[in-house]
Amino acid sequence: MSDLKKRNVQGPMKGKVDPCCDTIPLKPNNIAKPKSTQRGLSLKKAIITGLSWIFGVIVINLLISYLLTETLTYGYKNRYTNWRTYFPVKQRIFTEEELALYDGSDLTLPIYIAINGEVYDVSKGATYYGKGGGYSFFAGKDAARAYVTGCFKTHLTHDLRGFDDIDMEQVTGWMDFYRDHETYYRVGTVVHPPIDPESPIPEDCKDEGKRRSSETIQNANK
Ligand code: HEM
Repeated sequence: MSDLKKRNVQGPMKGKVDPCCDTIPLKPNNIAKPKSTQRGLSLKKAIITGLSWIFGVIVINLLISYLLTETLTYGYKNRYTNWRTYFPVKQRIFTEEELALYDGSDLTLPIYIAINGEVYDVSKGATYYGKGGGYSFFAGKDAARAYVTGCFKTHLTHDLRGFDDIDMEQVTGWMDFYRDHETYYRVGTVVHPPIDPESPIPEDCKDEGKRRSSETIQNANK
């Protein structure tokens, strides 16, 4: 019998030579685990216990959040609670004609809006942008100018000529609105043909004072 077997025999046979025979191996239970294996096992156990605790705390937190706010994020909603942020769709380059297909008139297609070249899927806001919605004129096009001027009939264009810094800030504000939205997500960009610099700048449909009021509205929509 090997030295190893002699050392590892447990119980009444401890320290004695196994009378049975040399050839039958001792049960694995009777073999003391080396210290390094024991350390490995207790570390594994500690990790599993730790992970179970973390998992438990997360689940309890989600539950409390849902009970209090009916959301899993304590009512906090923005682009970080939008799963599309973590799994972005392949970005596509649209022509104006291609973009126009996504204006909500074909119910089998998603609804897209564009603002200053960036195209967003706003299908989740179909009540605003879909057929019959209060803001359906924004769908299927880049109407960046109208977002600032509120001229929803005459300014449905990406032409921002004549805009001052405050106007541009509002454009950026609306771009941020879509970019940071909890359900809308970017799907690509629209390429516009160049604007003829000789063409007239779209005329304002309202006086300047009224136009500035859209800033307040936009802030309210944030
Ligand atoms: C420059 C002027 C305006 C622009 C560009 C504008 C744009 C928009 C847009 C894009 C939305 C949809 C937001 C979303 O996708 O969640 C929206 C929603 C809304 N807007 Fe305006 N808006 C303007 C003026 C106004 C005015 C004057 C009022 C009220 C008198 C108003 C009241 C609302 C309301 C109540 C909603 C939310 C609708 C709802 O929750 O059902 N907006 N606006």
